[in-house]
Amino acid sequence: MSSRRPFIVGNWKMHKTVAETVGYVAEFASHLPSSSSGCDMAIAPPFTALSSAVAAAHGTTLQVFAQNVAAEGPSGAFTGEVSAAMLKEVGCQGVIVGHSERRRYYGETDAVVAMKTRRALDAQLLPIVCLGETLAERESGAALEVIARQLRAITDTLTDADVHRIVIAYEPVWAIGTGQAATPDIAQQMHRHIRAIWEATFGASADTLRILYGGSVTADNIAEFTALSDVDGALVGGASLSPSGFANLVRGALATSPASQGV
Ligand code: 13P
Repeated sequence: MSSRRPFIVGNWKMHKTVAETVGYVAEFASHLPSSSSGCDMAIAPPFTALSSAVAAAHGTTLQVFAQNVAAEGPSGAFTGEVSAAMLKEVGCQGVIVGHSERRRYYGETDAVVAMKTRRALDAQLLPIVCLGETLAERESGAALEVIARQLRAITDTLTDADVHRIVIAYEPVWAIGTGQAATPDIAQQMHRHIRAIWEATFGASADTLRILYGGSVTADNIAEFTALSDVDGALVGGASLSPSGFANLVRGALATSPASQGV
């Protein structure tokens, strides 16, 4: 059984104003079970609400992550970009990189995702690196190879010091926002695949690597995922937007995850 600490992250995408964010954090805290100390929790609001989210979450265990970071840095003529150092300054603990929406709508390549991961690590931010195959890639039998390619683009750039400071998220593109989550079998197979590649590259650190599942996770199905031996938490979109719903989801994860029960 795994001793990895569960990690539940809400990716808000382009949702919530500053006022909504502050209200959310207060309400979320009021719904949390006392057992919530058994897992790590984070929200990832839009850039504009990060600073307020950090202030609102002060004194709680809720962490604040950004959804994106500049590939360049530490500063320069890059209109519209936000550097890793700037995210660190406002109190973010980490950042999501390589989300499939970034890859698909904004043309982020494996190389760009690797650069962003490097920037996050250099700024002492925890990167959550997203990997995922499209439906066409899965149907053509290429899913395992696509994930291996996306993962190797990252592992190729990591030093030994980095390997304990990174989280991977498996988010099949066909499961995001569709209401059609991956089956537990598909999730477990892909998480095992990711961990096996990590082990072949970095040895025993694979045992401590946290791999989150993302794609139509809800309070109703979270337990099916966190019960799996290679799933260490979830990256949650739509179901993280309601504070009571997200607190319920955390409760579901705690009920099943081996690590949160101290076994
Ligand atoms: P949904 O939970 O809305 O499917 O989104 C998943 C996701 O993209 C999280 O990063």
